[in-house]
Amino acid sequence: MEDIYSAYILSTEHRPDFSTFVEVDEIPVIDLSETSQENLILKIGKACEKWGFFQIINHGISSDLILKVEKEAKKFFELSMEEKNTLKRDVFNAIGYYDAEHTKKAKDWKEVYDFLAKDGVQIPCSDDPHDLELCTQKNHWPQSLPHFREIMEEYGGKLEKLAYKLLELISLSLGLSGDKFLDCFENQLSLTRLNYYPPCPFPELALGVGPHRDPCVLSIVVQDDTGGLQVKKNIIGGWVPIKPIPDAFVVNLGDIFQVWSNDKYESAEHRVVLNSQKERFSYPFFLFPSHHTILKPAEELVSEEVSAKYKAYNFGKYYANRTHADFTIQEVEGIEI
Ligand code: SIN
Ligand code: FE2
Repeated sequence: MEDIYSAYILSTEHRPDFSTFVEVDEIPVIDLSETSQENLILKIGKACEKWGFFQIINHGISSDLILKVEKEAKKFFELSMEEKNTLKRDVFNAIGYYDAEHTKKAKDWKEVYDFLAKDGVQIPCSDDPHDLELCTQKNHWPQSLPHFREIMEEYGGKLEKLAYKLLELISLSLGLSGDKFLDCFENQLSLTRLNYYPPCPFPELALGVGPHRDPCVLSIVVQDDTGGLQVKKNIIGGWVPIKPIPDAFVVNLGDIFQVWSNDKYESAEHRVVLNSQKERFSYPFFLFPSHHTILKPAEELVSEEVSAKYKAYNFGKYYANRTHADFTIQEVEGIEI
C-alpha cells in the first residue's frame, strides 16, 4: 500500500465486512404531512425507541433547493487545495474546511466544510473556568463562488427550522411538552455540513466515517443516491444500510436526546462505507445547544422506580473534552459541571 494511503487503513476489527451487511426494509419512513399529529408522534416515538434512526418525506424542503446545494457543494470541493486551505478551520474557529477527522485511529476518507447556524456565536477560548476570554466563531465563505453563501444560508435556515420541528415532535413523543428544551438553543452551536467522499480504491480497508455516535441533539442527513450510511443493530447482527430514497432525509438522534430521554431513546452507532467507483455527497444539519447548557435526564422521566442514568453535565465542557470522534457519552462521568 502506498504511504499516502496508510493513514486511512483501519485495523482489522474495524474494517467493513461487505459480506455481512443486512438489507432490511424496516427503518421507518415517516410522512411529516400526516394529518393526525397523534399518529405522527406515535410513529416517531416507535422509530426513536427501536432504531434511533428514521427517514422523513414531505418535510417541506424543495428538491430544487437540494439540487442547488448539490451543485455548489461540487464546485466547492473542486476548488484548489490552496483556496480550500484559506478556509481551513483552526483551534479558535472550529468552522470551515478540513480534510478529515480520525475515527478508530484511522483517517476518514472524506473532505468536509462546516458553517454555523448562528454566525458570530461566542464560546470560551479555553476549558479553564478562570479564563473568561471568549472566542468568536465566524463562518468562512469561499470568495470565488458568488452564489455559495446565499444558497447555503437559505438551506441551513430551512434545515434549522425543520430541526426545531423534529425537536418538538420527539419531545412530545416522550410525553414532554413540545417546547421543553427550547431554552437550550439561545446561543446554539448548530451547524450545517457538506461532506464529500471521493471514490476509494480500497473500500474494504477504510471508511468514509468510522463507527461513532453523534454528540448533538439530533442530526438531519440529506444524502445523494450513492448510499453508504449504515446503522449498527445488534439484534439483527450487523450493519444495516440506510437506503437512499429520493427526496427523503435521514434523521438520527444524538447523545443529548439519549441523555434527555434517560436512555428511552438511543443515540445509535453509525458509519459510512465507501465505494470504489462512485463519489458520495451528503449535507447534514446537526442541532447543538448553547455552549453553557447543563444536560441531564428530563425530570419527568426520572422517578423512584427509574433512576437518572446520567449525572448533569455541562455541554461545552463535554464538547471541549471530546477530542476524538470515538468519545462516548459514558465518558461524561469524569466531566464536572
Ligand atoms: C456522519 O455520520 O457524520 C455522516 C453522515 C453521512 O455522510 O451520511
Ligand atoms: Fe454521524
